[in-house]
Amino acid sequence: MSLVPGTVRPRRLRSTPALRRLVSEVRLHPTELILPMFVKEGLNEPLPLGGMPGVVQHTLDSLLEAAREALAAGVGGLMLFGIPEHKDEIGSQADDPDGILNRALSLLADEFGEDTVIMADLCLDEFTSHGHCGVLDSTGAVDNDATLERYASMAVAQARAGAHVLGLSGMMDGQVAYCREALDAAGFTDTVIMGYTAKYASAFYGPFREAVDSELKGDRKTYQQDPANGREAMRELGLDLAEGADVVMVKPGLPYLDVLAEVARESIVPVWTYQVSGEYAMIEFAAAAGAIDREKAIEESLIAFKRAGSDAILTYWATEVAQRLQVEA
Ligand code: PBG
Repeated sequence: MSLVPGTVRPRRLRSTPALRRLVSEVRLHPTELILPMFVKEGLNEPLPLGGMPGVVQHTLDSLLEAAREALAAGVGGLMLFGIPEHKDEIGSQADDPDGILNRALSLLADEFGEDTVIMADLCLDEFTSHGHCGVLDSTGAVDNDATLERYASMAVAQARAGAHVLGLSGMMDGQVAYCREALDAAGFTDTVIMGYTAKYASAFYGPFREAVDSELKGDRKTYQQDPANGREAMRELGLDLAEGADVVMVKPGLPYLDVLAEVARESIVPVWTYQVSGEYAMIEFAAAAGAIDREKAIEESLIAFKRAGSDAILTYWATEVAQRLQVEA
C-alpha cells in the first residue's frame, strides 16, 4: 500500500486561517510579556541606545510614562535595571535606598501598587566600577560568598522599595537560598524570587553592556554557564528549586531552546525566558537591512519560546507586541 498521497493529509488542518487558528498549540498573550527597562541617574532626556534601535535609557519621568504605556497595552510586568552615576568596587548604590534603581522601584510601586508586577534586576554589574556581577577578592577573582552578603542587602532594599519580584541574575552559588533567608528575616515573606537558573556566558548580551554603561573588561565565564553545557542547566534547576526559587528562567532565548524545553519539562514552578539584547538587535538590524520581515520575525521568535514551554517572556518588544495583540483580539 502506498502512503503517498494517502488518506493522511496533514495539510488539511492548514487549509484556512480559521482552521489554523483553531488548531494552533500555543498563542501569545499580553500578560505573558514582561518589559525590561533601563533607568539612568542624572539624565535630562531619554537616551537612545545605538545597539538597540527603539530602546532607551530612561529618566525617572520617561520611565513612568513608558510604564504607563506598557500597562495600558496589557503587559504583564516590568523588569527594571538601574544605572547609577557613580560606580564603585562594591556597588554601593545597589542597596542604597536613594540609589537610582531603588528610587525607580518606589516610584513605580507608588504609582501602580498591585495593578502590575514590578521586578528588579538583582545583580551588581550595573553598579560596580569593574563591571563584574559580584565583589572581587584580593586576587581580582569574583568572591562568591562575599557577593552573597551584598545580594542579601540588595534583596531587602529592593523589597523595601516595593519590588514584587527579584530577578537574581548574578549566577553566584547559593544566591536563592541566601536572599530568601534575608528577605524572610526582614519580613518580606511574600517577595517572589525568580532565579536565573540557566544563564549562559553569552555574546548576545553585547548591546546590554552599552545599555547599562558596563565597565566590564574580560568575561563572566567563571560564573555564567558554558554554552556547550546543557546538563549543567538541570543541576542549576535542581539547586534553585531546592533553595526555594518561585520562578526559574533560561537566558538567552533562541540559542538555548533545547535547554528551555528541558527545564520546562522538569520544572515544578513557572518557567520564563529572556529574549536578550543581542537577539533583539539581530532582528532589528536584519529587518532594517531589508533581509527579513520585522513583525513576522518578532512574532515567530516569541512563539518559539511558547512552543518550547516558556510561560512568560522578557522581551524589549513587550509593549509593541501587546499593542498588536490588543488590536487583533
Ligand atoms: C546582569 C544581566 C545581564 C543581562 C541581564 N542581567 C548582563 C550580563 O549578564 O552580562 C543581559 C540582558 C540582555 O542582554 O538583554 N545584571
